[in-house]
Amino acid sequence: MNALTVKDLSVTFQAGAKGFTAVRGVGFEVEAGQTFGLIGPSGCGKTTVLRAIAGLNTNWQGEISVFSQPLRSGHKITGALRAEIQMVFQDPYSSLHPRHRIARILGEPLSIRGAHNVEDEVRETLARVGLTSAVAGRYPHQLSGGQRQRVAIARALLLKPKLLLLDEPTSALDVSVQAGILNLLDELKTSYGMTFILVSHDPGVVAHMCDRAVTMQAGRIERELDRAALAAGGWEMQPS
Ligand SMILES: Nc1ncnc2c1ncn2[C@@H]1O[C@H](COP(=O)(O)OP(=O)(O)O)[C@@H](O)[C@H]1O
Ligand SMILES: [Mg+2]
Repeated sequence: MNALTVKDLSVTFQAGAKGFTAVRGVGFEVEAGQTFGLIGPSGCGKTTVLRAIAGLNTNWQGEISVFSQPLRSGHKITGALRAEIQMVFQDPYSSLHPRHRIARILGEPLSIRGAHNVEDEVRETLARVGLTSAVAGRYPHQLSGGQRQRVAIARALLLKPKLLLLDEPTSALDVSVQAGILNLLDELKTSYGMTFILVSHDPGVVAHMCDRAVTMQAGRIERELDRAALAAGGWEMQPS
């Protein structure tokens, strides 16, 4: 089964009187359980593709289906699908509310959905991402970059997503903590049965994590890479 089908996706931003088309005719399919990579230089449209799939930008043309359910352009994602698609952002600091403690950052999305045992679930999920329950009482600025990204991953996991969109999840982190986060993601993918879309400009990360990938250039897909092509290399481009 396909976890994600994208066909002829285009996204145009209004720039004054003119429009700027940041993503043009992008299409790909991702099988459930796979990690699919989106690679390309800064500004080529990777985040724009993810934001459309996540429903954060509904102003797109084309087709997007998640587990065979079509998203509707111009409409927010509603119902069960909304929890099933989660995104982890590049910069864990700006994506966590600076004046809320971690307990609240993680607990609020659950409370909104009427969950019981919010505290237990928060503690359990912190443990799943390798953090102690003491972290729940802290503010984002009291954590290291790696801890903050673990919190951001925990927040995405709390809603038990089936499709996790990872936008350069380790590029804001020190090299020494990157591997720990990538290994954690791999473990969680298996135990939660998730599908990943991974945006990265790091060839090593993509070759290590992805089953398939596409390279993007100026809003379009340039190349499709299978496992063998990823392992063989030679597709690397300038870092973004
Ligand atoms: N909200 C926006 N309004 C106008 N232009 C945007 C907006 N978001 C992104 N862009 C432009 O779209 C292009 C693709 O951006 P983005 O998807 O963030 O690239 P990437 O993630 O590959 O670095 C860039 O030229 C960027 O400046
Ligand atoms: Mg980006």
